[in-house]
Parts: sequence; structure tokens; C-alpha cells
Amino acid sequence: MRRKLVLGNWKMNGSRVDAHSWAAAAAAVAAATANADVGVIPPVVFLDVVRAASDSSPLWLGAQNVAAYDNGAYTGEVSARMLAESGVRCVLVGHSERRQVFGESDVVVAEKYVRALAAGLTPVLCLGETLEERERGATDAVVLRQLQAVIDAAGAASLSDAVLAYEPVWAIGTGRTASPAQAQEVHALIRSAIAKHDAMLSSLVRILYGGSVKGSNAAELFAQSDVDGGLIGGASLVPADFDAICRAANQDG
Ligand code: 13P
Repeated sequence: MRRKLVLGNWKMNGSRVDAHSWAAAAAAVAAATANADVGVIPPVVFLDVVRAASDSSPLWLGAQNVAAYDNGAYTGEVSARMLAESGVRCVLVGHSERRQVFGESDVVVAEKYVRALAAGLTPVLCLGETLEERERGATDAVVLRQLQAVIDAAGAASLSDAVLAYEPVWAIGTGRTASPAQAQEVHALIRSAIAKHDAMLSSLVRILYGGSVKGSNAAELFAQSDVDGGLIGGASLVPADFDAICRAANQDG
């Protein structure tokens, strides 16, 4: 049985005061959900605030981005080693906003994934198709291509130290959630692709769903057999909503 995981991606939102109160609320729900893991992914400059507000809590601390390089002359970047030293446990790689707004290719995403693993971080590899890709029937090909780039770079066995997240781009921040059946279909596809390499590994890897998850739809999404939790954007900025989502995961855990 895979343990559910809920991660709140704050994106580029909030102040230090907000970060403190959101983190304190998330730490409280992390302590109250014995059957599920909970984490928050603040902007990197708020990592210290979140650490202070969640001290001795089981709350996972995540980062939204990581350099594709090891320490060196890369102005503006933050290395995986620096994140690990700052108490970070997991890091998003391949989020659609990084792919689309910042032009990150599958190759760059794979380099970041490799760096994260080398530093002992858990990469949270995000996969997902745009609306245009879904409408022309390319969903499976896109998601499998994004997954394969990482397998080519790091090997399928590396997935045992990673978390996957299916985030259809058309469902992110739009209020348009994938139906539970649509999510399940792609999650099952991802799991079966991993099973071709290693059946045991495919049964253990956690695959989160992201895209307009709310307190009102979390339970039906998490009830799907291949949905192992959520990657939450907007609702993670509202403690009552994030709390409801984490409790839905806990119920299902
Ligand atoms: P929303 O929950 O706001 O749709 O964002 C999802 C997301 O991108 C999380 O990484």
C-alpha cells in the first residue's frame, strides 16, 4: 500500500508573514495526519521561515527549482547541495511553468533530476500535456516522452528515490480539474510504463495528481487506485482548504 503524499506548491506567492502562518498551519495538519505525508514548497527565500515554523514537525520541506549544475559560476542559481544543506527534502523538477515560461527542455529537466538525486533530495518529477496536446490525442506520447527523458538520464531504478506528479497543464490554476477517471487513466499509463522496467518498483512509486485540486474534489481523486496524493497550488495558500485536502488523503491512507 502506498502512503499518500500531499505537497503544497506556493509558487511565487506570499510574504514572510504569510509563510510563517501557512507553514504553522501545514505543520499542524502534518502532525494530525498519521496516514499521509504532508509537505510545503515555498519560494526559496522563505525556506528558513518554514523551517522555523515547523520545527520538530513531520512536515516535508520542498523547493520549487534546482540548478542543473553543481556549485560554481552560475549567477542566480541554487544548487541541489545548497538545498539539501538548508533542510530541503524534495524538489520539483519539470513543473509545467518551468517548462513553458522558462523554456526548460526534457534534457534540462533530466539534468536537474540527476542533480537532485546526487544531493540526496527526492525529485518530484512533473509530467503533463497542454490542452492542445490533449485535443490532438497526444497526451500519452507527451507524458511518456517526459518520463523517458529521465529514465534515459538516470535509469528506471532511480525512480525508487523519486515521486512523480501528473499535472495536466490545462487543469493548472484554471479551476478545470481532470475528472477522477481522466487522472486515473494517465496515472495507470505512467505506472505501466515503469512496470516494463520493474514491476515491484512500479507498485511502490508514488504518483501525485496536480491541477485545481480543492477540498471538494480531493477525496474522489485520491480514491483512484493509482492516485497517491496531490500537488496543490492555489488551495495550498488557504490553510483551511489545504487542511481539508490533507485530511482527505489521510482518510484514504
Ligand atoms: P493549482 O492547484 O493552482 O491548479 O496548481 C497546481 C500546480 O501547478 C501545483 O504544482
